[in-house]
Amino acid sequence: MILVAGATGRVGSLVVDLLRQQGRAVRALCRSEVKSKPLREAGVEITLGDLTDRRALVAACEGVRTIFSAVTSLNPRALNQSYRPETVEEQGHRDLLEAARDAGVDQIIYLSAIGVDHPAAPRQFQVKRRVEEVVQSCGIPYTILRPSGFMENLLTVLPPIRRFGVAPLPGKGTTPITYIAGKDVARVAVLAIGHPEAKGATIEFGGPEDLSNRQCVQIVARVLDRSARICPIPFPVLHLAAGVARLWSPALREFFAILHFVDRYGLRAPRRPPFPDKLWAPSSFEAFVRRQTGRVGVDR
Ligand SMILES: NC(=O)c1ccc[n+]([C@@H]2O[C@H](COP(=O)([O-])OP(=O)(O)OC[C@H]3O[C@@H](n4cnc5c(N)ncnc54)[C@H](OP(=O)(O)O)[C@@H]3O)[C@@H](O)[C@H]2O)c1
Repeated sequence: MILVAGATGRVGSLVVDLLRQQGRAVRALCRSEVKSKPLREAGVEITLGDLTDRRALVAACEGVRTIFSAVTSLNPRALNQSYRPETVEEQGHRDLLEAARDAGVDQIIYLSAIGVDHPAAPRQFQVKRRVEEVVQSCGIPYTILRPSGFMENLLTVLPPIRRFGVAPLPGKGTTPITYIAGKDVARVAVLAIGHPEAKGATIEFGGPEDLSNRQCVQIVARVLDRSARICPIPFPVLHLAAGVARLWSPALREFFAILHFVDRYGLRAPRRPPFPDKLWAPSSFEAFVRRQTGRVGVDR
């Protein structure tokens, strides 16, 4: 039995899909009954509960051999939610691993991110680094996955390019990011299950190319057959807006801090295969955009 924590999220749900396609038994830790419904219908066992609920964690780990966690307390699509990464992610994973140890789990795969050990890492990244340390010292064979930025982050530029021919970009948008598609991140997570080279490994990986956000905008414009004027939004403006909005959007400040960090330092990952013995042909950004927009053509 494989436990997926964060199974209703972007990568977690893709991991569940891949595991179900392989006919593997999957349990999902879900905090929302409504969101868990499609998973249940797809044959996934559900443990309802939050990462901060120790009793739910004990129940979720029973009979489990592998745990994959993609839980994050910062969801850019729900910035109005409370933001307590030290309580949710750090303490939550500590409790999850304690329950996992008691249940005899034999592999924990934690989805972290490139950049978490950078000296200027923002709070969310620092918390992820501390979760990595918890994972590394928990006594269970572990795998830490550190992907670069997800291609899906760029989908926000599609509507303004389509409608107005403009692309608002935070900051300069010139630093390189080895963007990777969520489905490729999920593939790596599934390949890591039981792989001998995954044991005790921290694996940094990304897609096939280093691209700046400006280059990504040009690719989107080309695929949509539109022109796109880039409108840079200066970070002081974004930070001011986050200060004003902090009551209704507690996580906005942190979200902008991450964008600022990435705009300054980039997110470059090695472009070698995460596992040399496995086929690895990650999607290019253009192919990703073509799939997302239904304009499937030549993958350049
Ligand atoms: N976006 C990027 O560019 C990027 C790059 C590298 C690494 N990463 C990392 O990759 C991981 C996965 O990202 P993603 O985009 O798949 O995240 P996501 O879509 O936001 O999914 C997060 C998942 O965590 C769950 N969750 C949140 N708080 C929880 C709690 N207290 N208890 C139990 N579950 C909880 C969410 O459940 P609900 O559905 O109920 O909210 C959801 O299933 C994250 O750790 C992220 O930091 C992201």
